[in-house]
Amino acid sequence: MRTVTVGVLGCGTVGQDVLHLLRRRKDIFDNLGVRVEVAGVLVRDTAKARSVPGGTPLTTDPTFLQECGVVIEALGGIDSPLALLRPYLRSDRPVITANKALLAERWDELREYALDGRLYYEASVMAGTPVIGPMSTVLRASTFVRLQAVLNGTCNYILTQMEGGKTYAQALEEAQALGYAEDPPTLDVGGFDTAHKLTVLARFCADGNFPYEAVQIEGIEGVTLDDVAEARAAGQRIKLVAELARDGDGWHARVSPQRLPETHPLCTAGASRNALVYEGEESGTLIFAGGGAGGMVTASAMVGDLLDWLIGFPGHVPLH
Ligand code: NAP
Ligand code: HSE
Repeated sequence: MRTVTVGVLGCGTVGQDVLHLLRRRKDIFDNLGVRVEVAGVLVRDTAKARSVPGGTPLTTDPTFLQECGVVIEALGGIDSPLALLRPYLRSDRPVITANKALLAERWDELREYALDGRLYYEASVMAGTPVIGPMSTVLRASTFVRLQAVLNGTCNYILTQMEGGKTYAQALEEAQALGYAEDPPTLDVGGFDTAHKLTVLARFCADGNFPYEAVQIEGIEGVTLDDVAEARAAGQRIKLVAELARDGDGWHARVSPQRLPETHPLCTAGASRNALVYEGEESGTLIFAGGGAGGMVTASAMVGDLLDWLIGFPGHVPLH
């Protein structure tokens, strides 16, 4: 049995469930002949009440990173995680992250590590619903035409609850209590989180250096109960939609609230599910749908990434 030393950054909605899942799936690691040892779990406040397996080494001191063979980042934000990961990545060790804001906005620093196969980030888009995996592997052979997607669980939840008559403010509060929302939730409702995710996806099908700044962004803050009711009366639903398609020599990338027919695959996927319709010339049309936010669904992708690394698969390599 070989011991693999894991460092976990963050112990909130996602970090806690990563720790639970590492315990729950011990059998899978046993089968690989691996004993997972969590060397440290970085938090801001060690006294805060949280649900973690007994013996979890919570700390505010990141020096444990020096002894880790792999790091799982579930902090959020951009500057703090980058400062912690930078020396670690430079020493050629792998990082697993769910942080689409960091990936989208600091690609200048991260791309070389992604090209080397040392960045694993399935959880950063659609959480535990695998879409980066297929787009970074088999779908590379197909000529990309366009994609349309619902990528934000918080907005999906709010819009669905508004269909039932709840106010925007009430629904947002519930999404926060469920652990879906970013800190701050403006990232969700302003469309920025969806744009971060669209940027990450674009680097597998459009341009390996696709810039976040190229996405036109409109959020759902202006959507009213009347708008939602009017759409429902017309047999439609309002969704925050991410779109990417070729536009002349460049790309059209946009996030905006749209009225879609109830029969559209982004609606039939289920009221609270993320969904993505991918069109490739050779692959044809593919539909991915599933949970896109929440602790355990995100943890399942992060622990899956850890298993990929242990087995010897590279991380998610963007277009060259
Ligand atoms: P969260 O509940 O707010 O947890 C963040 C954790 O990071 C907390 O434990 C916090 O410590 C710790 N932390 C934050 N900044 C820190 C710092 N500077 N130093 C030390 N510890 C720090 O966030 P989350 O929902 O788990 O999300 C984490 C990441 O996963 C984000 O990048 C998010 O976008 C991504 N993600 C989330 C979901 C989801 O459904 N929640 C899904 C997919 C991806 P304290 O607990 O002590 O405050
Ligand atoms: N805040 C994000 C969402 C978490 O609501 O979709 C998952 O990335």
